[in-house]
Amino acid sequence: QRLTQPNGPYAGVTVVESTKSTNADLERGRPPDRTVLIAREQTAGEGRRTRSWSSPPGGLYVSIYYAPGVPAHRWPWLTLLAGVALVNVARSTGVEAVLKWPNDLLLGPGRKKGAGVLATTTDKGVVLGIGLNVQPVQAELGPGGLAPTSLAEEGANELDLTELATRLLLELDKWEAPWRAADGDPFVSGLHEEYRSHCETLGQKVRVELINGSFEGTARYLETDGTLVVRDVEGHDRSVPAGDVVHLRT
Ligand code: BTN
Repeated sequence: QRLTQPNGPYAGVTVVESTKSTNADLERGRPPDRTVLIAREQTAGEGRRTRSWSSPPGGLYVSIYYAPGVPAHRWPWLTLLAGVALVNVARSTGVEAVLKWPNDLLLGPGRKKGAGVLATTTDKGVVLGIGLNVQPVQAELGPGGLAPTSLAEEGANELDLTELATRLLLELDKWEAPWRAADGDPFVSGLHEEYRSHCETLGQKVRVELINGSFEGTARYLETDGTLVVRDVEGHDRSVPAGDVVHLRT
C-alpha cells in the first residue's frame, strides 16, 4: 500500500536495523507531521514509568510523530487511538484482543499483554511509540506488571513484520484522520465509541494506584481529554489522567 505517496497518510516511513529507541530518535529531531520510524530491534526500548521495553528482533517497534493541530488537552486521545489500532490489527490476525485502559493490548483468553504504547509530548506535537510483541519475548515483570505474550503464542495467522506494520499504519490513519478533522473531539469522530467497544476496564471495579496513594472504585467513562472517571466507594467521581496511573488493578 502506498503509505508515502503525495496523497498518502505519512510524510515518510523509515526502517532501521537497530537503534536505542525510536521514540527517543523522533523526540530529538524536528520531524515533519506524520513521520514514521520503525526499528527491527531497539537496544534501549523505553516503556511507561521509566520501565524498559524488551525489543529483540522479531517484534514491531514503531514511532510516529504527529503535529495534529488540535487543542493540546485532547492529545491524550492519540494514545487511546493507538490501542484501538492495535486491537484491530491483532483481530485481523485471528487473535482475541481487548484493551485495558489506557492502552495495554491484552491478547487471548488469558488476557496477557501483547503490546504497549508510550506517548511523549513535545511543544508542537506527540511522539506515539508502539511496541507489538510478534515473536515470544522474555520480559521482566515489574510490580503489578502483566504477564507478556505475543501474536505467535496466541496463534496469529499473520506474523510477517512488514505486513503487520502496514496494517498498523493504515489502521492508525483510519482513526487519526477523522479525529484530527473533528479538531480532536473523540465523540464527533467516532473514536470514543470505537475505543469504548474494545475497552474492558469501563464498568469494572478497579483499584487505582497513584504515585501518592491509591483508591478503589468503579471505572465509569472517559472524558474528551482521555481522562478516566472512577466513582470511589464514597460515591465521588474522580478523574484519573492516563499519565498519573501507576497500576490499574481490575
Ligand atoms: C509500555 O510500557 O507498555 C509502553 C511500551 C512502548 C514501547 C514502544 S516500542 C517503540 C517505541 N520506542 C520506545 O522506546 N518505546 C516505544
